[in-house]
Amino acid sequence: MADKEKICRHVAIIMDGNGRWAEAQGLPRADGHRRGAERVSDVMKAAKKCGVKYLTLYAFSTENWKRSPMEINAIMSLLGEFLDNKLPDLQKEGISLRTVGRTDELPSFVRKKLYRVIDATKNNKNGVLNLALNYGGRAEIVDAVNKILTDKSRKNNEITEADFGRYLYAPDLPDPDLMIRTSGELRLSNFLLWELSYSELYVTEKLWPDFGEEDFIKAVESFGGRKRRFGGREEK
Ligand code: IPE
Ligand code: IPE
Ligand code: MG
Repeated sequence: MADKEKICRHVAIIMDGNGRWAEAQGLPRADGHRRGAERVSDVMKAAKKCGVKYLTLYAFSTENWKRSPMEINAIMSLLGEFLDNKLPDLQKEGISLRTVGRTDELPSFVRKKLYRVIDATKNNKNGVLNLALNYGGRAEIVDAVNKILTDKSRKNNEITEADFGRYLYAPDLPDPDLMIRTSGELRLSNFLLWELSYSELYVTEKLWPDFGEEDFIKAVESFGGRKRRFGGREEK
């Protein structure tokens, strides 16, 4: 039980506040996204220091298509740049890139880069950088149900929680131990609805472009002081 309580293996982050950061300095929103993308390296370094093996980053939601074409294009081209620049670092650190979300709906230039990096890093064993791209928690659950309905190998109609979990986007990843949201919003915004059931939550007022290594370490340290009960009673 002690291990289950204290070890922070998987941290998931809602990287929010890029737009507000840019607007506060009279810059276009795209500049906030650029600055936000640059923060990812710091957080990866901090995760390594803290022994966090899985890092899931909410980069684009199924609802973010409601934004202006200009902003969406800026985000997609930054994602392309990120994928081009990140490969040597991922190889050096032995991190494999993964995704959750409906990536087949992303622009083809992003998809190509994405699949190239995923394939090149697939045997890396030191950790996982999991990008939530065109991700929605409800979409993930609906996609799982549809997979179940079309799975001809299923023999009976009864389904258990463990069984259901195997149809989600990343069944081999443990559930997040800690979920961080920047920029102070107290909501999930359709992030990992199934997987966050018993995750500890940490919300900071800091905007994502201002979130650095020390902030990540502080969040993980706060996790270390929590008592996770998983519905049971605290042991004396
Ligand atoms: C998060 O920053 C990045 C994405 C949603 C892609 P926002 O763009 O949501 O920033 P705010 O919330 O408007 O400040
Ligand atoms: C959540 O942030 C999505 C990402 C960080 C990618 P949003 O800015 O889209 O969420 P809302 O609109 O504040 O709920
Ligand atoms: Mg936002």
